[in-house]
Amino acid sequence: MCGIVGYTGQKQAYPILIDGLKKLEYRGYDSAGVALHLGNHLAVYKKQGKVAALKEYAGDHPVASTTGIGHTRWATHGEPSDRNAHPHYSASGNIAMIHNGIIENYAQLKDELVSKGYTFNSDTDSEVLLNFIEDIKRNNECSLEEAVRVALKRVTGAYVILLIDTEHPDTIIAARKGSPLVIGVGKGEHFLGSDASPMLAYTKEVVYINDYELAIVRPDELILKNLGNERITPFVQKLDLELAAIEKGNYDHFMLKEIHEQPKTILDSLRGRLNAEQGYITLSGLNKIEEKLRNANRIVIVACGTSWHAGLIGEYLIEELCRLNVEVEYASEFRYRNPIISPQDVIIAISQSGETADTLVALENAKKQGAAIFGIVNVVGSSIARITDAGAYTHAGPEIGVASTKAFTAQVAVLQLFALKLAQLRGTIGDSLFQHLLHELEAIPAKVEWILDNQVEAIKAIARRYRDADNFLYLGRGYNFPIALEGALKLKEITYIHAEGYPAAEMKHGPIALVDEKLPVVFVATKDIYHEKIVSNIQEINARKGKVVAVVSEGDETVNELAEAVMVVPQAHEIVAPLLSVIPLQLLAYYIGVERDLDVDKPRNLAKSVTVE
Ligand code: F6R
Repeated sequence: MCGIVGYTGQKQAYPILIDGLKKLEYRGYDSAGVALHLGNHLAVYKKQGKVAALKEYAGDHPVASTTGIGHTRWATHGEPSDRNAHPHYSASGNIAMIHNGIIENYAQLKDELVSKGYTFNSDTDSEVLLNFIEDIKRNNECSLEEAVRVALKRVTGAYVILLIDTEHPDTIIAARKGSPLVIGVGKGEHFLGSDASPMLAYTKEVVYINDYELAIVRPDELILKNLGNERITPFVQKLDLELAAIEKGNYDHFMLKEIHEQPKTILDSLRGRLNAEQGYITLSGLNKIEEKLRNANRIVIVACGTSWHAGLIGEYLIEELCRLNVEVEYASEFRYRNPIISPQDVIIAISQSGETADTLVALENAKKQGAAIFGIVNVVGSSIARITDAGAYTHAGPEIGVASTKAFTAQVAVLQLFALKLAQLRGTIGDSLFQHLLHELEAIPAKVEWILDNQVEAIKAIARRYRDADNFLYLGRGYNFPIALEGALKLKEITYIHAEGYPAAEMKHGPIALVDEKLPVVFVATKDIYHEKIVSNIQEINARKGKVVAVVSEGDETVNELAEAVMVVPQAHEIVAPLLSVIPLQLLAYYIGVERDLDVDKPRNLAKSVTVE
């Protein structure tokens, strides 16, 4: 939610900021803007729309400046518009600020400022915070750094803020609470970003800033302090990330690149953990809370969106293989509905970004009540990864397309390892099934590759055929029910076509009323123990003239004859099959989005990392 960048050094700041904003656009694209230091004054350029609109407005090189800050916005307070775009000027025009997050007590702060005669040029909470800071600076006759520190003690909510002011030509002041901030350390220069992508072309040395820390950043100096004004030694880490990982390469979109990366990313999530030849799984994170897991009353899986769908598959896996009670919770509900949590509970948090605000706070609450937290997270060093007691990274690499694809399959693969390992520890799985499933899991990357090599043309044709539908229904049973939900979510996000996912049998309890000769119904009908039942459900849709499209197992002629179109996946044990059946649904959403000429990497109203509740 909102991307922030900053640069101070010897190079021209503007091109670095624009390039950085493009890399962070996945975090929001309602408006973009930069503020540049020009000796004794500041220049702000900002525009509603994507970074390309800003660049068209400001040009390739509007002014010479070696210090600046930039912002790409996902609107919270105030509609997307030029006036609500960041950076904001303070009332005096001497300070410019960008903000990622939400200031919850902004109304109270605004009332105080209005009573002192302040007026505002935008509808944002961010401009309120900026003027609050300036007011403190003026009243206390203190430095900007001191004013920021005093102001932040009064602020509730989440923020990363970057400020520049006319008095300090080469200095950026930065602070964070609840939103991510990385500082890249170069030679005579520093870079700031919501993640490391804007600085990757220049340096691999980075410092991850923690909550309640304040940074004073100059070309040759990085001073880190807490809000009590005590100095903290910056912990410089080396990034293990190549530039190619965050570029599109030969693909038209990041989403397509990420779908095609899945044979590798699933392999990466299994690498060093699954040894089918010798018949064992190593999951060091799980060992750390082994005792807790052995004695656990239940597991609660907490997540949002696509990660929540992975959690549903986790529930089916753990209950079936480990005979342990599992509940799957939407983090946003779990954090507010006063749930009963005991120290005997183990919480599994699933998150691609590791920054989702609702998931983070739900975990903090559960931790206070004594539950152990296991994280399944993609972004290394992210906030969720840091508050867990143990965990397993998904190793999917940077996911830039706003719709999650490769992160989902990596989450499911890690959940499969987790469930199998725990079942072995708890003695709830026989050795021959355990060994068989290890081989089934090991075979998945090659089977995903087969789908990508053999099914794309068929799926493109299906996309052309149904591109103008107004609604879709997605149905599945067992492990394929969460896949139906995920297929429907992908379609909604990418194509703006209304879609519902349902357990196939539940259809008769309401949604079947929607079926007519215009409605495409996508069945996830791979060969498993529910196959006969789902074939009956397909017959029921056919009888009502719905248009059946099905994901089927290779060689299954039964469904072939009943469907208008099929997408084929290789045969696999039903426990690992979701890793295959989701791939055609990702491709279907992608190609319908392309057919409808939409920006599939940046669907309207969405942002990749939801750091506000
Ligand atoms: C859908 C999607 C979202 C995320 C959700 C949780 O394609 O990407 O539904 O899954 O916002 O995000 P993370 O996994 O980062 O916590």
